Order: sequence, then C-alpha cells, then structure tokens
Amino acid sequence: MFADPILSPAISPMTELTTDQLLQLDKDHIWHPYASMLDAPPVYPVVSADGVRLKLADGRELIDGMGSWWSVIHGYNHPVLNEAAQAQLADMSHVMFGGITHPPAVKLAKLLVDITPPSLNKVFFADSGSVAVEVAIKMAIQYWYSIGQKQKHKLLTVRNGYHGDTFGAMATCDPVTGMHHMFSDVLPQHYFADAPACRFEDHFEEAHIESFKQQIAQHHGELAAVILEPIVQGTGGMRFYAPAYLKRVRELCDQYDVLLIADEIATGFGRTGKLFACEHAAIEPDILCLGKALTGGYLSMAATLCNDKIARGICEGEAGVFMHGPTFMANPLACAIAYASTTLLLSQDWQGNVQRMQRQLQSGLAPAAELATVADVRVLGGIGVIEMKQPVAMASIQKTLVDQGIWLRPFGRLIYTIAPYVIGDDDLTRLTQGMVAAAASC
Ligand SMILES: Cc1ncc(COP(=O)(O)O)c(C=O)c1O
Repeated sequence: MFADPILSPAISPMTELTTDQLLQLDKDHIWHPYASMLDAPPVYPVVSADGVRLKLADGRELIDGMGSWWSVIHGYNHPVLNEAAQAQLADMSHVMFGGITHPPAVKLAKLLVDITPPSLNKVFFADSGSVAVEVAIKMAIQYWYSIGQKQKHKLLTVRNGYHGDTFGAMATCDPVTGMHHMFSDVLPQHYFADAPACRFEDHFEEAHIESFKQQIAQHHGELAAVILEPIVQGTGGMRFYAPAYLKRVRELCDQYDVLLIADEIATGFGRTGKLFACEHAAIEPDILCLGKALTGGYLSMAATLCNDKIARGICEGEAGVFMHGPTFMANPLACAIAYASTTLLLSQDWQGNVQRMQRQLQSGLAPAAELATVADVRVLGGIGVIEMKQPVAMASIQKTLVDQGIWLRPFGRLIYTIAPYVIGDDDLTRLTQGMVAAAASC
C-alpha cells in the first residue's frame, strides 16, 4: 500500500525538516540534473538567496558564479522583480491563453519585438528553453509544409552545439558532447557540420566554414532550417566563434533558401556584451529563441519569435494555425516578471557593466593561462572560462570552492563563470582567484 502523503510525518505541513532529513529525503526521492539515483553526487542545501549570495542551511554564504545557469542577471531577491511578482499575484497568477489575453503578455511581447532584430515581430511564449527550441523547429517545418515543400523537414547544425534535452532539441545537440547517442535510434536524424574553428577574435577565412558550406550545398533541398547558438556555444564547450562565421551562415541560408534559427537562450539579454549575440554579426535570424535571463531567473519561461514570412506561410497553409499550445503558455506571473526584468536591464548601463565584468574576468583569469595543466583561458562579456587539458573532478573542486565561499559547477574540462551582472568588483576578484586556484590544484 502507498503511504498517505498527508499523513507522512516527513512532509506534514507541521514538520520542520532538519538538514540531515532534508538531504536524506532528497537522496531517496529526487532526481537532480544529469545525476544518478544510486550514487548521488553531493547536493548543497540552499535556504535563501540575495544579490549574488546563496545562503546554505548551515549559515555559510556563497558567491554565486553560475547565475543559476545563465538566468539570474539582476541577482536574487531583487526588489523590482519581487514587486512585479507580488503585484501580478494580486491580479492573477495564471489564466489560460487560448481565447484569452492579458496585459503582462501583451506588454512583454511588444517589448521583445522592440528590442530584437526588426524583422522579428511575432512572439510565441513557451515554458522553457527546450520547448522554445521545439517550437522553433516546428515553426520551420510547418512553414515549408504549408507552402508546399514538405520535403524540407531536416535541420543542419554545427557540432558542439546544445539546444536542450527534449527530443526535437536533443536531435540537434552535438552527438558526442550531448551524451544523447543512446537515443540516436529514436531521434530524428539531422545534418552536422564541423564546429566553427575560428575563435571570436580570429580573422575569419572562407576555409573556416568549408564543412558547413558543403553540408548546406548538398542538403539544402531537404533542409527546413539551420539552427545554432550565435557566437557562444555554451554547454557544448563554452566556445566563442568569429562573428564573420555567423554572417556567412546567414548569407548561405539566404543563398540556399534555408531558414535560420538563432538559439539565444543562453546568450540573450546582454551576456556576450551585446543585448543579443546576433548583433555581433549584424544579422537577423528568421526565428529566435529566448529563455533563461528572460525572467531574470525568477521563473521558467521562454519565447520563440519569428518574422512575417514564417507567420504568413504557416497561417495561409493547410492547418491555418500553428500547431502548438502549452497549458502554461504566456503565464501572467512569468510575463510580468520578464517584463520587469527586461525593462530593469534596459534602464541601466548594462553594457558598461558587462564590459566591466569582461575586463575584470580577463585580468583575474589571466594567471591561469600560465599553468601547465590549462589549455586555454577565454572571456567574452560576462562569461569567463578556464579550459583544462584534462577533465576536472567536479565534486571535489566544487567542495574546495564551497569551502572558500564560492559557488561554481565545473563540467568536462571547463571551470567557468556566468555570474549575475550585479556582482561587485570584490566578489568578482574572489571568484576569479578561486577559479585560478582550482585550476592550479588540478
Ligand atoms: C543554448 C541553449 N538552448 C536551449 C537550452 C535549454 O533550455 P532549458 O534548460 O530552459 O530547457 C539551453 C540550456 O542550457 C541552452 O543553453
């Protein structure tokens, strides 16, 4: 017989869990991201967060170098975002979006249309980054289907990419670093070009895009879209590539009549030093995915924007509608917070601030480049990366860093930071010192 959850002593509303109980229940019942349920890695109990500090159950405070995976830009417990949430809660936290609209969604959509490339003027709200990518892929495929070119239903992307963990998105992630090969029999098969070989600061040469050119020339007849992360390949290796590469991708998509999907879920809202990374190359995608920092990291919400051509193609086609509609689409609470977060960002000298972070990351991480165990040190905007020659032992490095009051989550060969933009100079110094010391200890 199942235990009655209401009567279960561990989770009765009256029970104050001790930290040990909390950790034991967590271990027994909860999956964590990319984690084992049998040999669970350590998890740190956070009880509150404020500014750039995470507070642990034992009272220790950690400088957050991860921005909760690119999403927290204004810091935790921000009065402006709190107020937006509370005001919206008093009106309504949710209402369905089928046949209904509401001010938070309309205001946010108009703001997104205003700040993204001019041709993008239709907004589809989704629940998470992965879903925004699913929506983008579906839009591209439904577009070609609707205008009578059903054979154009494949995607082309570049290796080392990452677009999310749902099936459609997974099929476009790097087949090796994406660790999704075990699903390859059930995933749609797409085309992969080599990852961009030219670094952000490199002089771009046509040879750098040869593999992509070959793929698009060979397969364009069946390609619905190219999908990639503009300028920064995040989870697939924290690689920064030359804007001229992206510009050539846009030209080749035009030449071969293939749509371009820019996945700015990680790069959007200033992280690379431009509001959107596409601006580095002065290009406009046909479809744009936003997420993560959209709500300042308060709630899960994403958006997929497209241009008139796609909206018209889909809506004049066989279905007459776009075939997607999540239950929590355009959740008013998330929309209100996203609107508050984005206007807050735009009201500040965010670019000057990200440049400050970039300068400090560059000088603070530079000593790591001297270490024999380090392969590369790179910085772009508010992203700082130490790439080691060998994979790092994540759990032990994390523990050492936590003992120094720093929160990071290294992966693969990377020790990196994507801190909230509100991080002060002193905290950033502690963070970079911790990263260099961690690299030196490997
Ligand atoms: C570029 C990119 N696309 C999509 C996603 C998936 O977003 P989510 O985790 O919100 O589903 C991520 C997440 O890391 C990402 O970095």
